[in-house]
Amino acid sequence: MEKYKVGIIGATGMVGQRFVTLLAEHPWFDVKVLAASSRSAGKTYKEALAGKWCMTCEIPANIAEMTVKDATNDIEEIAGTVDFVFCAVNMKKDEIKALEKAYALAECPVISNNSANRHTPDVPMIIPELNSDHSAIIEAQKKHLGTKRGFIAVKSNCSLQSYVPALYPLDKFGVKDVLVCTYQAISGAGKTFETWPEMVDNVIPFIGGEEEKSEIEPLKIWGKIEGEEIVPAKSPNFTAQCLRVPASDGHMAAVFVRFENKPSIEEIKEIWKNFKGYPQEHNLPSAPKQFLHYFEEDNMPQTKLNRNLEGGMAVSMGRLRDDTQYDYKFVCLSHNTLRGAAGGAVLMAEMLCDQGYIDRIH
Ligand SMILES: NC(=O)c1ccc[n+]([C@@H]2O[C@H](COP(=O)([O-])OP(=O)(O)OC[C@H]3O[C@@H](n4cnc5c(N)ncnc54)[C@H](OP(=O)(O)O)[C@@H]3O)[C@@H](O)[C@H]2O)c1
Repeated sequence: MEKYKVGIIGATGMVGQRFVTLLAEHPWFDVKVLAASSRSAGKTYKEALAGKWCMTCEIPANIAEMTVKDATNDIEEIAGTVDFVFCAVNMKKDEIKALEKAYALAECPVISNNSANRHTPDVPMIIPELNSDHSAIIEAQKKHLGTKRGFIAVKSNCSLQSYVPALYPLDKFGVKDVLVCTYQAISGAGKTFETWPEMVDNVIPFIGGEEEKSEIEPLKIWGKIEGEEIVPAKSPNFTAQCLRVPASDGHMAAVFVRFENKPSIEEIKEIWKNFKGYPQEHNLPSAPKQFLHYFEEDNMPQTKLNRNLEGGMAVSMGRLRDDTQYDYKFVCLSHNTLRGAAGGAVLMAEMLCDQGYIDRIH
């Protein structure tokens, strides 16, 4: 099969580096363009990353010598070279909105990790196993933009990539109230222990904007397409506290849940075990075989032991038990830069290619 030509916007960042490693040997996608800020533009990828590469493997040889483009000034050239771009940049919200729109208007689909467009009503926010049908809104978005193939599709925040997949399949019982505390790794801030030494032996009880995202974004995932927009659901009712903890990768969540019709523990475990979505049904290259893994051991899942399960694309759950105030409590874990960022975006791109929303033009 001829591969899709892809670009990575924000290639030098924490998420961008994950894209580089995930796409180095991808069966469908071939990285043809790397772009970042004007600080990196014009340098080889290796030079731009001197001292900043934080993946455990080496920079792939075919990528190391590529010249980094300027993400904002080379849009036409990039859009004229690739079939679509992944985007993960650290810029102001209005700048990101303008950047993503400019790529879409240049007829280049944008698969975004950024939060700027997550609440744009005609932009789908997709976890491929849960709401693959939301991609249908892309036709309305293209109509609004006046494009033939350019559009924006986004990933939801990394904090919710464990508890939303755990709760969404239980929808038939009426998921009513959810209280969640997250224990989030430092790579979620684009940092390592070298670049953020204050995090060694420390917990910081504040991550700017994270609690709002953790409470509001699930409602768009639960939402429905009505006319030419996605209307967020009114429930479940989420409340969240998000803490930064001294883990390099992997966001853990402690969850308390109340249902309209309380299922049994056995029913919940059975649903988790059998849950499949579009990626599994269509055998997409980055799909975990078993999306939701339940561990029976009392001390599992653990961030360090389980974050890389199924290439970091699966969700690990455990400790499901009765609660005195809610119906049940449990813990769950997902890898924040794999399932929660680059890996989730690659899976979404595979799905959009499979569904026919992205074609090969170069
Ligand atoms: N880390 C995570 O776990 C995670 C999870 C989900 C979503 N996200 C989202 O993904 C995005 C990137 O996060 P990150 O952790 O990878 O950030 P990061 O490590 O700080 O990387 C930021 C990237 O943005 C580029 N950039 C900064 N200013 C720019 C400009 N003016 N024009 C073009 N490019 C510019 C940087 O290029 P230079 O190197 O040239 O400065 C770099 O490539 C953010 O929106 C974040 O919210 C992150």
